[in-house]
Amino acid sequence: MALKLNHMSFGSQKLPSFALPAMASFGSPKFFMASPLRSASKKVDNLKNTFMPHEEVQVEVTHSMSPQKIEIFKSLDNWVENNILIHLKPTEKSWQPQDFLPDSKSDGFYEQVKELQERAKEIPDDYFVVLVGDMITEEALPTYQSQLNLTDGVRDETGSSLTSWAIWTRAWTAEENRHGDLLNKYLYLSGRVDMRQIEKTIQNLIGSGMDVKIENNPYKLFIYTSFQERATFVSHKNTSKLVAEHGDIELAKLCGFIAADEKRHETAYTKIIEKLFEIDPDETVRAFADMMRNKIVMPAHLMYDGRDENLFNHFSTVAQRLGVYTTKDYTDILEFLVDRWMVKDLTGLSADGRKAQDFVCELPLRLRKLEEKAQLVAKRAPTIPFSWIYDRKLML
Ligand SMILES: [Fe+2]
Ligand SMILES: [Fe+2]
Repeated sequence: MALKLNHMSFGSQKLPSFALPAMASFGSPKFFMASPLRSASKKVDNLKNTFMPHEEVQVEVTHSMSPQKIEIFKSLDNWVENNILIHLKPTEKSWQPQDFLPDSKSDGFYEQVKELQERAKEIPDDYFVVLVGDMITEEALPTYQSQLNLTDGVRDETGSSLTSWAIWTRAWTAEENRHGDLLNKYLYLSGRVDMRQIEKTIQNLIGSGMDVKIENNPYKLFIYTSFQERATFVSHKNTSKLVAEHGDIELAKLCGFIAADEKRHETAYTKIIEKLFEIDPDETVRAFADMMRNKIVMPAHLMYDGRDENLFNHFSTVAQRLGVYTTKDYTDILEFLVDRWMVKDLTGLSADGRKAQDFVCELPLRLRKLEEKAQLVAKRAPTIPFSWIYDRKLML
């Protein structure tokens, strides 16, 4: 899971905000709770402020799926076992972060670290900012597992439940955990980044959570995860390609292995939605449209390093400029999913279902037009410091 993309209003439709760096970058006030007058509660309140998301979080709808539909998910347990769990890899056959890192017990450890640092010298700062942002996103995994376990009909009720849904969630989390772990260790060894600032950002992000409007609704959850896994796949794959062009084949390999995991996850989640389209097309297409109307907000959108109040937008803008993850990718993913689930061919829908179908099928074209406008705005890009790279400045 992962990735960037916040959004700004653009006319009546929303567009990923990193397409609009100059407009998105400055002036958004930090969000504070009102403090009470009494000093004891003021102290408590100040402490609470420390752990509040640094931007305002909307009041969300909860449990938007009707309780009767929970039966659908219970009845799918065998299907999940036979069709979804097969996309997991047993631990013994999985790569581990250590496979790509110097072995601290070997005699050649210091030499290997030196070689890693030499290779890293060839990679420009921009790429390090993107790698750091991706790593921080992966490191907020506790938030994503919580999100899955907040979802009606599929949550792990006990923490070690033997339903196929729960097994998937735990095993998916365990696979994902390797991603943040590997990137974190690589970045630490690279000697190029301010680990303390990065670690603060991770702590703040996990403390803030995420606000992605899934509403405890499994239809919405699996639309979201389908989109996210593909977005992460695209991002890691592009990073791999770009760092290879800068001569760091080892780093390229590592990003490529993470991308391959994301691809397997995408396959599993898109298969779940494909099944839901077969069983309950009306609810599924309405969930798809709702998620796209609200826009797919990226999981790390609340990241904060204690300094830059628009850190996520700035990180996303660098990713956009490098071609690691762009507004075009966002639209491509949407188009891919519309085709993958054959949304255009759905029949027998309610009036609301048909409206939702039209909305998602027409959305890619509308977003393409907005991309062109946004590119014109993006040319007015400022330069800003990133604390993750010791306040060295980058052009947005
Ligand atoms: Fe993933
Ligand atoms: Fe991941």
